[in-house]
Amino acid sequence: MLSIFSTSLILQWSLLSLIIYLIISLIKWLQFKFNCLNCFERQSIPGPKPSFWFGNLPEYIQNPFVTLNKWSNKYGSYFGYFFGNRPILVINDRDAIYEILIQNGSKFPNRQKSDVELEPFQSSLLNQRDKAWKHARRILTPAFTAHKMSMETTRQAIDLSVKRMIESMEKKLSKNNSDELLLNITQHMNSVTLDVICRLAFNMNDTDVHEDHSSFRKMVVDFMQQSSDPTLRIIEYFPSLKNILHFLFYFFGNGKLLQTISQKLDNEISKYYQEKLRNHLEEKSAKKNNRKINILDFMIEQQELGNLNELQLIGNAVVILLAGYETTATGLSFTLYLLAKHPDWQEKLRKEILENFNDDYDYCQFDQYRSELLDCIWYESLRLYPPVISFITRQLETGIDEYHMENLDINITKNMTILVPTWEVHHNEKYWPRPNEFDPNRNDLPIPGNTNVNKNSAFQAFGSGPRNCIGGNLALSESRAVIVALLKHYQFDLIDDPNSERFTKIDSNTGLIKLRCPTVIIHPEKDIWLRVTKIC
Ligand code: HEM
Repeated sequence: MLSIFSTSLILQWSLLSLIIYLIISLIKWLQFKFNCLNCFERQSIPGPKPSFWFGNLPEYIQNPFVTLNKWSNKYGSYFGYFFGNRPILVINDRDAIYEILIQNGSKFPNRQKSDVELEPFQSSLLNQRDKAWKHARRILTPAFTAHKMSMETTRQAIDLSVKRMIESMEKKLSKNNSDELLLNITQHMNSVTLDVICRLAFNMNDTDVHEDHSSFRKMVVDFMQQSSDPTLRIIEYFPSLKNILHFLFYFFGNGKLLQTISQKLDNEISKYYQEKLRNHLEEKSAKKNNRKINILDFMIEQQELGNLNELQLIGNAVVILLAGYETTATGLSFTLYLLAKHPDWQEKLRKEILENFNDDYDYCQFDQYRSELLDCIWYESLRLYPPVISFITRQLETGIDEYHMENLDINITKNMTILVPTWEVHHNEKYWPRPNEFDPNRNDLPIPGNTNVNKNSAFQAFGSGPRNCIGGNLALSESRAVIVALLKHYQFDLIDDPNSERFTKIDSNTGLIKLRCPTVIIHPEKDIWLRVTKIC
């Protein structure tokens, strides 16, 4: 009898404790929600009104590209919105961008922490934070710095890839028995940039990426196009369910594709590593074997020194592949589209190329000969169509709670994320008059050697400051070689029949190509096709 009584008393107390615990948690959560959702209002920072449960996520997620544009037009040089619980401060002002990314860049070393923690990305430069990121960046930077890395290997890799691109186009022209053909430019640019990165980062010298039905290219392109996987979308709404949703992503979603890509690259790295080891034993020439010739050599050396573990090596390799190929390919596709749309610029550049590059030119003589005109055209294309948008985010270094931003006279707190909206900054009339026009004559383009633009933070195609794009120089070198080779051999024209399937659709309000943005990289609604005519 006594025992029944005491059991029921314990149960009652347990229930009561549980209820008290739940009430306290609820009060704490409501307090947090209230404080968080008021953080912009308290400082009179304008922005759309958030809903209690999901902040501004429902409106934002419908079409982030269009929504951010709408809010920027409405609220001006800075505003705040809520990505679920997370306060995002959007900064459109050039001086404020300079203050955060460059002047005080060391206080903001972190990108927005993602709820979607996918390996191997999580162990890569892209997602690491604070000290771990600084360490990784310091040891990987030499692999991208021309004077340290073997320039010869980079040049060879680019040159061979460009020659294979030309061969593949030639094959199509001769199959068609004509000097003129409609070509899928997006596909060719994906192939050439994927080829370069495979050679440099994985020592894969004989891929099938230039073939129309390349399974490797298809796998990588599919992964990039589908990363708005529904399971990942749900994590954004319910971060607390991320473990179970990650499980679903890997077993039923796009995660399988990511694992296949990682596995393939892992195999290539192991193959190369074994080969290096064999050569080392056979030749016993330490000097020769320590030669670092490509990005993979640098990473393997850092792994041997204990600076990178296996997961970090594969993570960085996958990120270099994914970050390195599609960005550059997208930039090149838009550049060629713009040259086709502006035949005067195309002709001017071709004339200069033909005058300065002789017949036995290897396409990578960019060190000896630099065309300012070519650089202006490429940078203006990246200004008009920046391939990467909504990716330049910053958070305070761990341990710093608050920062007073002088330019806007507001406080940035540790839970806020700053977002630099690349598209909006690049199309801001204040910084770029007639922003929707293609004008390579603009003075403020950051072409190499232009000292006027040190403080011009209105160009953000590669981000700025300590956490900027690590591969910008490689992208420039590749793009120069591809453009030189293509303009030397072919003329490019737009397909002007609006009823053609291959016609590139234009937004009637802006006069620019109609775009979509499945992840952080912009794309035309369909691949870019151009009329290509052989000239020599
Ligand atoms: C036209 C081509 C490219 C564009 C437009 C581009 C754009 C960007 C942007 C906007 C960022 C963020 C910068 C920031 O937060 O301030 C970034 C970061 C990065 N990019 Fe690029 N990128 C390009 C080519 C490349 C290439 C060729 C590679 C490597 C082979 C690469 C590797 C990376 C990596 C690893 C990061 C992260 C850096 C870090 O967090 O420290 N990118 N890129």
